[in-house]
Amino acid sequence: MSDTALFPLSDEHKMIRDTARDFAQNEIAPIAAEFDESGEFPHATIKKMGAMGFMGIEVPEQYGGAGMDTLSYVLALEEISKADAAHGVVMSVNNSLYCHGILKFGTEEQKQKFITPVASGKSVGAYSLTEPMSGSDASTMKSRATRDGDFYILNGRKSWVTSGPVADYIVVFMMTDPAKKAKGISAFLVDAKTPGYVRAKKEPKLGIRASATSEIIFEDCKIPVANRLGEEGEGFKIAMTVLDVGRIGIGAQALGIAEAAYEASVAYAKEREAFGQKIGEFQGTGFKIADMKTRIEAARLMIYNAAMAKERSKTTGERFTLQSSTAKLFASETAMFCAHAAVQIHGGMGYSKELPVERYFRDAKITEIYEGTSEIQRLVISRAELGLR
Ligand code: CAA
Repeated sequence: MSDTALFPLSDEHKMIRDTARDFAQNEIAPIAAEFDESGEFPHATIKKMGAMGFMGIEVPEQYGGAGMDTLSYVLALEEISKADAAHGVVMSVNNSLYCHGILKFGTEEQKQKFITPVASGKSVGAYSLTEPMSGSDASTMKSRATRDGDFYILNGRKSWVTSGPVADYIVVFMMTDPAKKAKGISAFLVDAKTPGYVRAKKEPKLGIRASATSEIIFEDCKIPVANRLGEEGEGFKIAMTVLDVGRIGIGAQALGIAEAAYEASVAYAKEREAFGQKIGEFQGTGFKIADMKTRIEAARLMIYNAAMAKERSKTTGERFTLQSSTAKLFASETAMFCAHAAVQIHGGMGYSKELPVERYFRDAKITEIYEGTSEIQRLVISRAELGLR
């Protein structure tokens, strides 16, 4: 890891990064392979991350958070993900998709009730937009929230919910007026203990296996109107606004995976010999190292730039969709590029479960898929640049 001269960090930022790195390397890296293999959720280390303030980094202290800035968040997330991307995504969803949306759109009562336990790390938060037949085309969801006096009755099947099997609270998006399509979607805050909230099928996954992912089924799940986040019909905009933040987090996660793959490759290239010389001395390996390094440096600048755009928006209110989508797109493709190159540099050992390199390869792939596929990022970016809708 280098402090790029183009992006000097303050002493405080360096301290946060170093604290996260020490914790990640000492507490997470040693258990990552075991939890990847078993697919168990790493409750103990996630709790410790909560105690250290990592589960609500930007949330003000009055709501149980650490009260830091966006750059602190991505620096910490990058280090956690470098040790294990599964811990990274739990942290990212908790901070970005869950806490941020309530902080931005919630009432004072909602912030007290729904952010405080999650930002402090005592509870886990989740976000649920996707359905079995509605992924990239998020506005075509079928789940229904029907008003009944002072309550809403929620019904539907949600899928691919990160932390679904363990989350205590969830932000969920449902149709309140299907005729209005995207403008008929509303957002709700649900306590997982509410009757009719069912944690359903756990997804068997290729990578980030220690993070739990599942379907959530809502069967006449009755919640008070006070749990609606924003106004009726504002749900889609809330979902998209929150994803702009989430995508910076996934970009930071991807950057962490890329760095882990890169550092393993450099060490191996200096040590492994073939045909009487270190494999790093072969141009075929050296050029791979050069391409990995170049992409990582570019991805880091884009992620930090997006983080600073988000930070500025706290006062200006300006959108940072373009910075977020370009950074997520580039960082996730960098993670895949670096993990692919790392397996190749390691040869047979890259394919072996004795080293973490094959895990980086499996973990990298999801960053090109969730929180908007690379194709969706290209759609968002091109529409913005061409002035299209
Ligand atoms: N911020 C604020 N508002 C936004 C916005 C943004 N980033 N993006 C769109 N909007 C607004 C638009 O301005 C528009 O509002 P008006 O009609 O008032 O102007 C409204 O939302 C509809 O926008 P579009 O017409 O662009 O909507 P669309 O149906 O064409 O969809 C899309 C756009 C980009 C394809 C969007 O559906 C999308 O991002 N899809 C991907 C969904 C996704 O990322 N899913 C991942 C879910 S989370 C996850 O992965 C699981 C997990 O737990 C990690």
